[in-house]
Amino acid sequence: MNPILSLQAVDFLLAWYRTYRRDLPWRHTKDPYRIWISEIMLQQTRVEAVKPYYARFLEACPTVQALAELPEERLMKLWEGLGYYSRARNLQKAARTIVNELDGRMPQSYEGLRALPGIGDYTAGAIASIAFDLRVPAVDGNVLRVLARVSGSTDDIAAQETKQRFRAELAKVIPAEAGDFAQAMIELGATVCVPNGAPKCALCPLASECVAHLQGLTDFVPVRSAKKARRVENRTVLLIRDGNRTALRKRAPKGLLAGLYELPNTEGHLSEAELPDYIRSLGTEPLQIQRLEDAKHIFTHIEWHMIAYAVRVSPDFDGLREDADLLLVPNEELHRDYAIPSAFSAYTKYL
Ligand code: ADE
Repeated sequence: MNPILSLQAVDFLLAWYRTYRRDLPWRHTKDPYRIWISEIMLQQTRVEAVKPYYARFLEACPTVQALAELPEERLMKLWEGLGYYSRARNLQKAARTIVNELDGRMPQSYEGLRALPGIGDYTAGAIASIAFDLRVPAVDGNVLRVLARVSGSTDDIAAQETKQRFRAELAKVIPAEAGDFAQAMIELGATVCVPNGAPKCALCPLASECVAHLQGLTDFVPVRSAKKARRVENRTVLLIRDGNRTALRKRAPKGLLAGLYELPNTEGHLSEAELPDYIRSLGTEPLQIQRLEDAKHIFTHIEWHMIAYAVRVSPDFDGLREDADLLLVPNEELHRDYAIPSAFSAYTKYL
């Protein structure tokens, strides 16, 4: 069987990458720690969104030791707005493993990296190839798309066996410059063989041997099976304030947005008439209620459809019911010390 990319295609791709690659902060280093941070941030997140977080994170945590020792609340604050917070928790878990069990040094093999929390096949391959030039495949969604098109494959790219087959095919053609090759494949998928809209085949170094391009199939390849529909949850979000303080709640340590601070919210859409009783159940008396705009937030498997109210409560009540789990936070501390996930960004602008 022919290789998935010819030797000439690999050469063209490397030459293309060296000329046209974007100048990105994580492309100025071979430090496996920095590459690890970048790869974790880039999962499910756009390059432009990652840039400022990457710089701030590395300033706060320049080493794996610093990350291992960072207090949880600061870690969440550094990640605030990036989403998928379990990525940050896994980073820290892995950093602690590295410090406590591996002498503080990042593993230098694919298998060693793959064994750490939060590091899957793709990320282990990306770090091993980019930091150490190991010839291991790094196949993310970008690379899957490129490989499906170049080979004209109509196999479902969401299927595990398709990914494994492409990984094995790609492994056979990785050149000595494994790091540049890995990033070139990603870059081609991100900037030329794009996911939405027509691919820019006129600019592609692989066009002369791309089956999808040559057969006019780029609109039909890759094939991806439909994702399961997200579950819709109606929620009522509350901005409960007494003038100088705002109520926050810490979420449960497991599950969606685990351990983060949120605006108090409850299942269902409460009407304005139902609201006073609900506020009393928290142990306080509403003085004034104002309906805010509706908002939606989309998670991987769930969609929140939110309605919201700003609720003014009396400043002299000194504590909500303990079992309501609410915290009254002085407004000047809110933005400085608490990480509130962007699911609430329609409402945190009022704080
Ligand atoms: N997405 C995942 N890894 C990347 C990288 N190294 N550069 C640009 N985009 C990426």
